[in-house]
Amino acid sequence: MKHTTSIFRHILPVLTGLLVSSVGFAAEPVKPVTPIKIGFLVKQAEEPWFQDEWRFADQAALEKGFTLVKIGIPNGEKMMAAIDNLAAQKVQGFIICAPDVKLGMAIERTSKRNGLKVIAVDDQLIDGAGKPIASIPYMGISGYNIGKQVGEGLLEEMKARDWKAAEVGALRMSYDQLPTAHDRTQGAVDALKAAGFPVANMFDAAQSKTDTESAFNAANIAFTKQAHIKHWIIFGMNDEAVLGAVRAAESHALKSDAIIGIGIGGSKTALNEFVKPAATGFYGTVLISPKRHGYETAMNMYKWIVEQQAPAAVTLTSGTLMTRRNQAQLRAQNGL
Ligand code: GLA
Repeated sequence: MKHTTSIFRHILPVLTGLLVSSVGFAAEPVKPVTPIKIGFLVKQAEEPWFQDEWRFADQAALEKGFTLVKIGIPNGEKMMAAIDNLAAQKVQGFIICAPDVKLGMAIERTSKRNGLKVIAVDDQLIDGAGKPIASIPYMGISGYNIGKQVGEGLLEEMKARDWKAAEVGALRMSYDQLPTAHDRTQGAVDALKAAGFPVANMFDAAQSKTDTESAFNAANIAFTKQAHIKHWIIFGMNDEAVLGAVRAAESHALKSDAIIGIGIGGSKTALNEFVKPAATGFYGTVLISPKRHGYETAMNMYKWIVEQQAPAAVTLTSGTLMTRRNQAQLRAQNGL
């Protein structure tokens, strides 16, 4: 009988507990565990940078055990539908790289209405007056400084190739409606000017979108107009901008050793160029961190939801010049 007694000794408190909680007399009511769900919305889901960002955010989700809802939002309409969708799924917060930073106020309003926390990544959201929305925490690259690194990299390689500045055209792939894109290319322009590069040899090619195809089309016009120029240095807001221009140069029969293009990014777009047996005009890129932008923003959102600890208002990340020479080493160092 000793055996039965000991079982009862174990079961009795459990039974009592059940009874008490079912009648509602429990001293400490059991809180329902709300599953944590976080959205991650990006403007260009097909771009390798954003795929890397998602991949690193997935890592954070796996570590912390939250659900990550990833949605591509190529335009304002899709974006608003995605936010509604997140609210319906009872997501507590989301990270966003918007298709247009001017949608900032609409994002803030909808999120507030639905009780959703928001973190902006890559592109800082702006208000009606064009000012950054300070109440939405932001993580982005330090655009101007990274642009300067691009400019300095171009100058260094120009020198290594013994090019005379008078025979070189500088092509700025521009997308000035996006502040970070403007800052990035301005940094490069200023670095070139500081080194005495002739302003008369600087040309703009305005992209209609931020992808390779739009860059190709914009650069194509510039190369047609400036057919007399012997050598080109090319820079832009991201790897896609520079790659599009490099492809356009190739279609104008400009030899790859007549071109130095340096992008910003360092994901697959750049890598595909570096692994080609012969060097192309895509000389280098400033490697930035999709891990910080993906993993860290997702972690920050998780902490904000679970520990009510809001992230820093602005976090700017840095980059490193990467070329064929150091790409393998740099990528390994950065866990890519
Ligand atoms: C912008 C660009 C992307 C990438 C990120 C990096 O969103 O469109 O290509 O460069 O910035 O922050």
